[in-house]
Amino acid sequence: MTNAPLFLSALKRDTVTRAPFWFMRQAGRYLPEYRELRAKAGGFLSLCYTPEWAAEVTLQPIRRFGMDAAILFSDILVIPQALGRDLRFETGEGPKLPPITKREEIESLDINRVETFLAPVFETVSRVRAGLSTEKTLIGFAGAPWTVACYMIEGGGSRDFQSVRQFALRDSDSFSLLLQKLTEATRRYLVAQIEAGAQVIQLFDSWAGVLPEAEFARYVIEPTKTLVSALKSTHPHVPVIGFPRGAGAMAGIYARETGVDALGVDYTQPLDQMKKLQDICVVQGNLDPLLLAENLEAALAQAKKIRRVLGETSFIFNLGHGMLPHTPVAHVEALCNYLKTPA
Ligand code: CP3
Repeated sequence: MTNAPLFLSALKRDTVTRAPFWFMRQAGRYLPEYRELRAKAGGFLSLCYTPEWAAEVTLQPIRRFGMDAAILFSDILVIPQALGRDLRFETGEGPKLPPITKREEIESLDINRVETFLAPVFETVSRVRAGLSTEKTLIGFAGAPWTVACYMIEGGGSRDFQSVRQFALRDSDSFSLLLQKLTEATRRYLVAQIEAGAQVIQLFDSWAGVLPEAEFARYVIEPTKTLVSALKSTHPHVPVIGFPRGAGAMAGIYARETGVDALGVDYTQPLDQMKKLQDICVVQGNLDPLLLAENLEAALAQAKKIRRVLGETSFIFNLGHGMLPHTPVAHVEALCNYLKTPA
């Protein structure tokens, strides 16, 4: 046993007294204090780019519930914006970007703007780290290249990202160039987060699940592997959590080939599969966020089952996707109280 924070010990696969926990989208609209600051900020992006506010929002759930880790408050789509693409968030509609249709638009993406354009994010990271106690860990993050490319080509959300797959099938050279540029921009972005105080990195690959096997290998695994090994070459002690949402049967191959320290698992993955994945790396997940929002008793029973199957070591408790805006605060509080008790 060491004095390292619980979260970092768990990521090293040390034996721990209980599994650490945090929740994707633990900062956000389900919290009244978030809604208050969000109204004052006017827009979601002004919240992201004002370090004082973004740091406050990052710390809000930790103060209220005492999760083991805080996650930087920002968005995966600040990268396209830093590279020179327009980005808007329309209320109730999600993100909107001008869709990329031509190679020239990919060629003109300027990866040299990352450090300067995103300076407020790095400032947020250092403010949060200064405001967190030593037993809490700060997670930095970025979207994985595939998922960010999805939004850049589609121009927003989509059911199956067909226009992205079409673009890749019709002009694979240009699509590879896009992934390469995103990989390098993301590497620089994450290195700057680490240098500002991020202790763990999570890569969100939210749309990993829409691809057939060969494309999964090429667009999800390959860029992630390149990114993880580049980060490991400069910052070998910073653990990386990969979250290839919807990867299903590909989750094991992803974990083995990308070299991530931990695998984030969504709520569709069966518990016995998660248990097997623990042979490869630390596993993180996977309570259904809708269950938590709708039925506290059932959510607590499922949380207990998850902990029983996965044990306390080599496991990080999380939701299987982001917290939903209509989740009652009392449900989150009861879940956190349960998760703080040793098994
Ligand atoms: O987890 C956290 O608490 C940290 C902050 C965080 C946000 N977005 C804040 C946010 C993180 C880690 C993200 C990641 C993100 N952003 C992902 C990957 C995770 C996932 O959900 O699959 C994706 C795909 C995005 C892109 C994005 N940002 C979408 C599709 C939307 C609209 C949907 C929605 O929930 O409104 C956003 C907006 C967004 N990002 C909000 C927050 C708190 C809501 C903005 C608001 O306050 O209105």
